[in-house]
Amino acid sequence: MAKDTKDLSRNEAIKEASAYLRGTLAEGVADEITGGISEDDQQLVKFHGMYLQDDRDLRAERSKKKMEKAFAFMLRVRIPGGVLTPAQWLALDEVARLYGNRTLRVTTRQTIQLHGVIKSNLKTTLKEIDQAALDTLAACGDVNRNVMCDPNPYQSRAHAAAQALAKSVSEHLLPRTPAYREIWLDGEKIAGGEEEVTEPIYGKTYLPRKFKIVVAVPPSNDVDVFAHDLGFIAIVDGDGEIGGWNVTVGGGMGMTHGEPDTYPRTADVMGFCRTGDVLAVAEAVVTVQRDWGDRSNRKHARLKYTIEDKGLDAFRAEVERRGGVKLGAPKPFSFTSTGDRLGWTEGEDGNHHLTLFVENGRIGNHPGAAHLDGYRKLAESHKGDFRLTPNQNVIVANVAPEERPAVEAIVAEFGLDQNLSGLRRNSMACVALPTCGLALAESERYLPDLITALEERLEAHGLAQDDIVIRMTGCPNGCARPYLSEIGLVGKGPGRYNLYLGGAVDGSRLSKLYAEDLEHEGIIKTLDPMFAAYARFRGNGEPFSEFLLRMSFIAPTGNGRDFHANTGPQQPVI
Ligand code: HEM
Ligand code: SF4
Repeated sequence: MAKDTKDLSRNEAIKEASAYLRGTLAEGVADEITGGISEDDQQLVKFHGMYLQDDRDLRAERSKKKMEKAFAFMLRVRIPGGVLTPAQWLALDEVARLYGNRTLRVTTRQTIQLHGVIKSNLKTTLKEIDQAALDTLAACGDVNRNVMCDPNPYQSRAHAAAQALAKSVSEHLLPRTPAYREIWLDGEKIAGGEEEVTEPIYGKTYLPRKFKIVVAVPPSNDVDVFAHDLGFIAIVDGDGEIGGWNVTVGGGMGMTHGEPDTYPRTADVMGFCRTGDVLAVAEAVVTVQRDWGDRSNRKHARLKYTIEDKGLDAFRAEVERRGGVKLGAPKPFSFTSTGDRLGWTEGEDGNHHLTLFVENGRIGNHPGAAHLDGYRKLAESHKGDFRLTPNQNVIVANVAPEERPAVEAIVAEFGLDQNLSGLRRNSMACVALPTCGLALAESERYLPDLITALEERLEAHGLAQDDIVIRMTGCPNGCARPYLSEIGLVGKGPGRYNLYLGGAVDGSRLSKLYAEDLEHEGIIKTLDPMFAAYARFRGNGEPFSEFLLRMSFIAPTGNGRDFHANTGPQQPVI
């Protein structure tokens, strides 16, 4: 039975009335009286890869002067698998300098964000992005977003096959609406307008909520497969070929403080399919969620809740029916880590690759650290490609051996390679202030200083070079996947964070809430005795998170609905 439309969330009506994502965006963008756009268009513009934001550092001052907020747009590029040519890098560098805030932001989902683009520059920026054979379509919004993939260029045919798969899944699930081309690139309107358009996969109202897909190649779980709505895990057979894919469904991070009906959840492994069936499976998962997902409550609209409510077996059966594919039993696989291997590596084909740490993904020019200039110089001479990692880092990939000294010289000149502690090289923070409208606390601008303070304690315990995964977000939405890290800090209010502990280093187990409302000193005081105990009593090769569980600093974690149960702190057994 059709649902009473009264029950639908407001966004559903906006999508329905938008004529396939057009709304009044064209008029709104042309309106010079304001730097913003209408509330309904703010929802629609996300499907075009943009968020309307304002500089929150300037809010109070501008409000005192009765001025409009300092509006600007965040643009997120769609880069399946995170691979960019040097020419594309240069194009993004150019628009960031001319129209953005002169930084490139590498994200936790393998894209680049530009911040600070004012409305009058939007169309020029998007045209330049288009000329570089890139776009921002479906980078945000209630659709399938950027498809991620293990970006590792140095191993095997399996990695190349995974990249190709990510690209084809991305293409297959792209919205078909011409609205993007019409509005931003002055493309021809299709004669007859709306009637001509169809969205065979999405329909008029697209999905109930955002949808995220990744492709993983074990033993690396750098894409954090269990954090995503849909995942494909490569099963590589004895001769290095991909024999098929385990299919994961129902992962997601977002939750709301104080609302136990919202929770992060790790994905279930639903079955196994052959490469030829991947598109049918992906499409079926998307359409089942399109029809079964909750369109009345956006906080309960992600696939993770559909699966919790309907059960995995019912969901699998419907996917099999719609896709015309019988899924096999999942094949064995194992992951070792979610991190990146920094530094130089050599590939089977003789090419060399350099993975460079980028602190919280932000590449800009600062006194003594002209990193934006450095990457530009690399892009001007590099003949291989650039690969964005899901850990907000950059791989200068496919460097011919004879080109390596030139790359090394630029890296040294601009200080792109740094000596890092084990904590810092495993750190990620979301953007948060000043651009993110949802931030309750600082994240990107604070985590580097917190790490400096924690490094002093780690150094004192002889742990400076031990890998420990730390992630911070400015609110519980979870953009930097803090619930899958060993130490997760989630903003609660200005200068205050909830501390989560115990996420598994292979990304398979959620962390657990340990303490609430900690300020800077509180975070250090809480972690320091744990570091001390870890240094003394850890087992050989035992990760920090496993140690905390074994010694009962924290209770075993729950998944899904159970996430909020058994909250720490516990009484350690040492
Ligand atoms: C209810 C959930 C969420 C909402 C409402 C939300 C909203 C936002 C907003 C407004 C921004 C822009 C911040 C800025 O650039 O100023 C952002 C950034 C971002 N979000 Fe989310 N987000 C949510 C959950 C997630 C999750 C679970 C992931 C990843 C698994 C994610 C991935 C990202 C990424 C990659 C960025 C770019 C910056 C970065 O690397 O941190 N988001 N999100
Ligand atoms: S986690 Fe929250 S504060 Fe951070 S970018 Fe995402 S929505 Fe903004």
